Formats: sequence, C-alpha cells, structure tokens
Amino acid sequence: MGRLLTNDKGFNDLKDLKQISIDLILENQNGSGSFIASPDYPVYSYSWLRDGSFIAYSMLLNGERDSCWKFLNWVHTTIQRYKSKVGEIAFKLANNQSLCTEDFLSARYTLDGMEVYDDWPKFQIDGYGTWLWCLTEYCRLTGDNSSIVKFQKSIRITIDYLKMVWELPNYDCWEENGDQVHPSTLACVYGGIESINRFLKEKELSDLSQDIRKFILSNLTEDGMFPKYIGSDSVDSSLLWLSVPFKLVEPDHPAMLKTVQAIESKLLEKGGVRRYSEDTFYGGGRWILLTCWLAWYYLEIGKTQKAGKLFDWIEVQSDKEGNLPEQVYEDSSNSTVVADWEKRWGNVAKPLLWSHAMYLVLVQKFESLQP
Ligand code: BGC
Repeated sequence: MGRLLTNDKGFNDLKDLKQISIDLILENQNGSGSFIASPDYPVYSYSWLRDGSFIAYSMLLNGERDSCWKFLNWVHTTIQRYKSKVGEIAFKLANNQSLCTEDFLSARYTLDGMEVYDDWPKFQIDGYGTWLWCLTEYCRLTGDNSSIVKFQKSIRITIDYLKMVWELPNYDCWEENGDQVHPSTLACVYGGIESINRFLKEKELSDLSQDIRKFILSNLTEDGMFPKYIGSDSVDSSLLWLSVPFKLVEPDHPAMLKTVQAIESKLLEKGGVRRYSEDTFYGGGRWILLTCWLAWYYLEIGKTQKAGKLFDWIEVQSDKEGNLPEQVYEDSSNSTVVADWEKRWGNVAKPLLWSHAMYLVLVQKFESLQP
C-alpha cells in the first residue's frame, strides 16, 4: 500500500511513499544511531528523544530492526553520559534546594549525543517515557530481550529520573507551556513505566504508573474530557497518545471519546489535524503526524473508513520527491504570521522524519488488517 511516485529517471524507478520514507529515515540516521529531526531545516538539526523513539518504532514495524536498535543504543549511551544529573537532582530535592533548567536531562541532543547550550526548552520528560516504551516494543516484537540487560543502567537512571520529576511542571511535546503539567506528557511516562515493568515486575513501579493514571483521570475538564494541561479546558491533539499507543485508557473510554469528539470538531480541518486551536506556529496548520495519529486511533476503534480518508489526505501532502512536511497550511501570501516564521526560520520543515515515521506506522497498521 502507498502512493506511487515517479522520479525523473522514469518508470523503473517507481517507488512508493512507504519505501521512500524508509530510505529517507535510513539515510538520515547518523552513524551514532541518532535521527536528525529534519535535514533541511536548520533549527531541527538535532535529535529529539520524542521524535526519535517514534521514528525508531516505525523502523521496527517496517522490517528495519537494526535501525531501531541503534537509536535505542544511542539514547542508552547518551543517558550514561549525563547520569550524574539524576543523582544531583535527588540530592537537591532531598535538601530542599531549587532546581534550574540546566539540572534536568535534555529533550534533544546533538547527533553525537551532546547537550545543546541554547535557549530552547530543555526540561521535557515525555521522550524518556517514550524511549522506555520503544525499547519494550523492540523486545516484544523481536522476541529478543537482551537489551533489557544491556541497557539496565540507563533504564534504571531513566526510571529514577521520571519518579522524581513526573509531578513537576515541564514543557509539553510542542515545547511550550513549561509552567504546566500535561496529560499527554504524563501518558508517555505512564506508557514507559508500565511497559518496562512488564520485565522488572516491581511493586513500586506499578504503584507509580497507577498514581499517574489516577492523577490524570481525576483532572478531567468540566465536560469530562482530558485537558491540554491540568486546569485548562482546551483540547490538544497529542491527547490521542493517552490511548494510542500508551494505553492509559482504552480508545472507547468515555473521557477519550469526549476528547476525540473535541479534536474532530475543533482541530480536524479540511482533511488534516491541527495541534490546538490557539496555535500560531506557521499559522497553526494541519500536521501530518497528528493526522496519522487520529487515523491510527480510528483503526484501533474499528473506524477503518474514517482512517482511510485521513490516509488519502496524508499521501497527497507529499511533494513529487515524496517528502512529507511537518505541517500544511493554506497559501501563505496574505498571512503575516506565516511570513514572519518564514523570515525567522525559513520554509516549514520538510522532510520531517517524524512525519514519515508516523506515515510508516499507519501503513503497517493498515497492512496488519489485511487477511
Ligand atoms: C515540535 C516538537 C518536535 C520538534 C522536532 C518542534 O517544533 O514542537 O514536537 O520534537 O519540533 O521535530
């Protein structure tokens, strides 16, 4: 399955978007194992744990297990490099000392796993939970559990870190609202802890994941949906993560159904899904990866036709070389917001590896439905 694309070499080089996406991701995996977020958008020339874990997962699902493992191993090495931070956080918390940005583990690193010293929001914890989850998916799908032993030190450091920080406000997956607590971030932490605990089987960890779950479920909006952040009454498409893939609730849980209704009525526009209503980044367009997520959710809940419609929209967004952007927006000529972003950082990121990865996840989910 997948859209066929011609290139200028003619018919024999026909490739589908699936193969293009796999090749693109492999070509953009650094020798260290990291994935650049986007090769053609200078501010994204780093490797994020969030993007990378989903990219690695997409490679795992599509027959590229070595690529997935190399990324997992890159994170393992990187966490080891900065492990002293976790001990220092424990010390500061025990001694009532305040924590500053530089104390936390970073959301993104250079391609060879070094911290970046700039003013981007560093304290985002979702990627650490997502890494644990991706690692356990690797073990589950390959049947090879040896990485749990090989990575045991970084697994333990990550768990200790998440245990200490999960209740603290930190930046969301869009690198915004650092003074809030975000259910979609906590879903990543929940998913990571729950899945690693299938191997570790520790009571303390199952208590921790249940505490996180209870906390989220006791902080719904007045209408009974999950909030963008605790205390807010708006919705964010990343809330889909609560059920897919992190299974904090089933896809048909009443709060999830309400949340999806809000996503459909407020954020699903002209075939694609926006991040949240107030989004101004390049005018707040429709994101490929979020459209894939809603389609994935639809597949999980048995709404195959709706998923297919989104899938068709996604495929049409690739350019003639098969590149998928981060987001799609209408003609920017009269939008000053878009023009401002273009002036500041250039055209919207394309290709975005995470967009291609979520497309690949979706292709595989569709393929697995076929008899
Ligand atoms: C997004 C992040 C993403 C990063 C790299 C940011 O604009 O908000 O979610 O991790 O780009 O793709």
